[in-house]
Amino acid sequence: MTSDELIDLEIKLLMEGIYQVYGYDFREYSEASLRRRLLQWLSGSGFASLSLAQSSLLRDRELFATLLRGITVNVSEMFRDPPFFKAIRELVVPHLKTYPFVKIWHAGCASGEEAYSMAILLEEEGLKGRFRIYATDINEEVIRTAQAGIYPLQELQRFTRSYQQADGTGSFSDYYTARYDRAILNASLRENIVFAAHNLAVDADFGEMNLILCRNVMIYFKQPLKERVLGLFDSSLVPGGFLCLGTKESLHHRRISDRYEAITPRMQIYRKRYAK
Ligand SMILES: C[S@@+](CC[C@H](N)C(=O)[O-])C[C@H]1O[C@@H](n2cnc3c(N)ncnc32)[C@H](O)[C@@H]1O
Repeated sequence: MTSDELIDLEIKLLMEGIYQVYGYDFREYSEASLRRRLLQWLSGSGFASLSLAQSSLLRDRELFATLLRGITVNVSEMFRDPPFFKAIRELVVPHLKTYPFVKIWHAGCASGEEAYSMAILLEEEGLKGRFRIYATDINEEVIRTAQAGIYPLQELQRFTRSYQQADGTGSFSDYYTARYDRAILNASLRENIVFAAHNLAVDADFGEMNLILCRNVMIYFKQPLKERVLGLFDSSLVPGGFLCLGTKESLHHRRISDRYEAITPRMQIYRKRYAK
């Protein structure tokens, strides 16, 4: 066995162990990125190999948390990809406005920036009090950060620029208070957001969503897991509901693709067809 094959075996065994002990299922994550992240974690861990780390990882939840942080890529930003948020405003919101109340699911919300961006956008579009956002992630630590809604002040310049490029209609500084090196988002934005832990690989669907966003999450998954997750979204969306994926993801050649139409050529925004 070559040393590369040995590492692949160690990864497989460790992922199986993690699934059995903690219930986190990384067995269907794409190998290249998982391998890179695990080896990165290993290099700073003090263990000589993944097999030697395995016993401690399976017994020590805090050590496992450091690994989890390394495996799940939690980067996010407010109004990330401004043309996408512009398209939501122009193409999706007019449909949402026809409902008395709408439910939105951000799957893989990381530290919450995307969900807060949506809350701001919907309030500016006059939907205040008429929506609930469910923002979920596999990583409970980032969910806690998301709940707090506090971000490094230095990021706010970029967030403000993106907000403006996404056709924000107000002044972004009205949505936060700067304190020392932190920006604290207005607590009122959180009133309509429910943050919760949810694992797309093993947990069940959410009912009756009008809009689901899962951006920059499935790029880390292998094909069968992508299909599972898309099936989950399909059963969670109402007919006429919208599904948004990241720029590097699409519904092309997916099992559910016939039931969806792409509503913009450039953005990965799809609408679930009404049954014939
Ligand atoms: C790169 S972030 C994307 C954040 C946000 N959607 C965005 O585009 O800015 C990917 C997130 O997916 C989460 N994730 C990875 N695997 C997951 C799973 N099986 N279930 C739920 N969330 C998962 C990670 O914890 C991470 O926070």
